[in-house]
Amino acid sequence: MISLDSQKRQKIFDELERLHQRDFCFSSGHILGSMCTVPHPIAQKAYLQFLETNLGDPALCPGTKEIESRFIGFISKLLHAPKTSVGQIVSGGTEGNITAMWIAKQLSGKKEIILPQSAHFSFQKIASLMDMKLIEIPLKKEYVMDVAQLKKKISKRTAAVVGLAGSTELGTIDPIPQLSEICNDEHVFFHVDAAFGGFVIPFLKELHYTVPDFDFKLKGVTTISIDSHKMGYAAIPLGTLMIRKKQWLESISVESPYISIEKQAGILGTRSGAPVAAAYAVARYLGYKGYRNMVQSCMEVTQYAEQRITELGLALVMKPTMNVIGVKLKKPELVVKKLSEQGWQLNKVKRLSCIRLVLMPHITKQIIDEFIPVLQKTCEEVGEI
Ligand SMILES: Cc1ncc(COP(=O)(O)O)c(C=O)c1O
Repeated sequence: MISLDSQKRQKIFDELERLHQRDFCFSSGHILGSMCTVPHPIAQKAYLQFLETNLGDPALCPGTKEIESRFIGFISKLLHAPKTSVGQIVSGGTEGNITAMWIAKQLSGKKEIILPQSAHFSFQKIASLMDMKLIEIPLKKEYVMDVAQLKKKISKRTAAVVGLAGSTELGTIDPIPQLSEICNDEHVFFHVDAAFGGFVIPFLKELHYTVPDFDFKLKGVTTISIDSHKMGYAAIPLGTLMIRKKQWLESISVESPYISIEKQAGILGTRSGAPVAAAYAVARYLGYKGYRNMVQSCMEVTQYAEQRITELGLALVMKPTMNVIGVKLKKPELVVKKLSEQGWQLNKVKRLSCIRLVLMPHITKQIIDEFIPVLQKTCEEVGEI
């Protein structure tokens, strides 16, 4: 056991605390623009319990490996993944997208990715990292991918098509069933980026919202990425890439001579079991029913915020599909800056000239009541209303 010099220890923790005081925290309720949230209390406890585990060398921690398998089982069931499928734990949406495009490139030997204009900026990294070319499809007036345009762009150079199930900017869902059908007919890899929507759409369906199918029930869907550190209520960093066919993992595997397994798949080597244990603990604690209640309450807060914002005379970019609201503004950057000076963190979407609110589980109606007068005063000052 390492014994710690108590004075030295205190000094370090004082320094850490001083710096941490400068951070915004989710529990303050003032982060209104993030797709992450305060981890569920059970996630926090489980995370600490697994700090020293390394899933990169699984023979060292067979118990944690089993937790990972059980967690992937939970995600598989949520997404109706077939028996042939496999789950790859990733650090989040970016790594999920990179891994999916890596597989698509390896399987097809091609380099073009067709994606909606609303795709996450991680695809820019993919293009640069893997020397791939992005072909952007314009959006229709409902802010979803234009299927007719997509059809025209599929060619013998296409490595993959990407559809969004919960866009970063507005939480929109592309017409995944039609995209799936086209990709199935054309034998093209079809990745669904459900980093945000993966933990929302299945429950919206149960709550009788009209949302399209987006998962493996559609036979053209080849991979889905879904993040636990977004609407999965777990700790950063954790996402899962579900892959329709287990053997596709081979295409992104290398021999790993110094560790306990013959081959290692994916990008990371050493990786912590802590976020996996945390995500599994939340999944076990909440179950599908708990997630449904969480989504229901986020949607209630969304509808409340929508009503309060429009009462100010501000217009929304569109009727929210899920718990994301875009508010049209003439000077979104200035409004975001002024709100930040008053302690509220929101994001601007320059492309759509709007600010974006994400109604995560840490946002309540009381917080909206606190925020609205601040938004009103700010918008009056800058001449938005
Ligand atoms: C749809 C979508 N995909 C991918 C990402 C990237 O996720 P991460 O920041 O966890 O890497 C995000 C992030 O907000 C997202 O909204």
